[in-house]
Amino acid sequence: MIKNIVIFASGEGSNTQKIIDYFRSSEKVNISLIVSNKASANVLNRAKNNTIPTLVLDRDLFYKGNTLIEELKSMQTDLIVLAGFLWMIPEQLIKAFPNKIINIHPSLLPKFGGKGMYGTNVHKAVIASNEKESGITIHIVNEQYDEGKIIAQHACSISENETAESLGEKIHKLEYEYFPKAIEFFLSEK
Ligand code: GAR
Repeated sequence: MIKNIVIFASGEGSNTQKIIDYFRSSEKVNISLIVSNKASANVLNRAKNNTIPTLVLDRDLFYKGNTLIEELKSMQTDLIVLAGFLWMIPEQLIKAFPNKIINIHPSLLPKFGGKGMYGTNVHKAVIASNEKESGITIHIVNEQYDEGKIIAQHACSISENETAESLGEKIHKLEYEYFPKAIEFFLSEK
């Protein structure tokens, strides 16, 4: 049976684009909805250009109500993919989808995870700590930020004159290559 994934993203959505492209003609995986907390996020344009339904979250409803959970359940959602989503996932959503929410983080967790650690902030912190390598982590989401079971990690080296920007590019390359495949593999195990 075809598996339905819902992507949550807050910004540019370049990872979302790669996921859309990867599963475009798949008979196994369907992207049923793209959710954002930000009405102006470019990821919503990407969804529209690919005729994928969108939903913009209302903060109060996201944290208090059951509406979203009911909607995701009624759509037979098999997996929720966080691709650069910056709001903390409420406990009731995690409980409603146990082991069915995965996140990508732009560092080798447990290093450089936790609150405030997203996007360029992560790369700046990695460089400031004189790390020799960084990378990406794909993990299951639990109630603690960036602490769920790790599904996959991929590393890259940091050169001597690395900047947050150049490291960000390296990280994105890893994400584009490995995130869609990790989603496919995770779904195939279910
Ligand atoms: C990605 O690099 C992702 O790893 C990161 O946000 C970026 C989104 O880029 N996520 C986090 O930092 C989560 N803590 P994109 O919108 O171009 O896909």
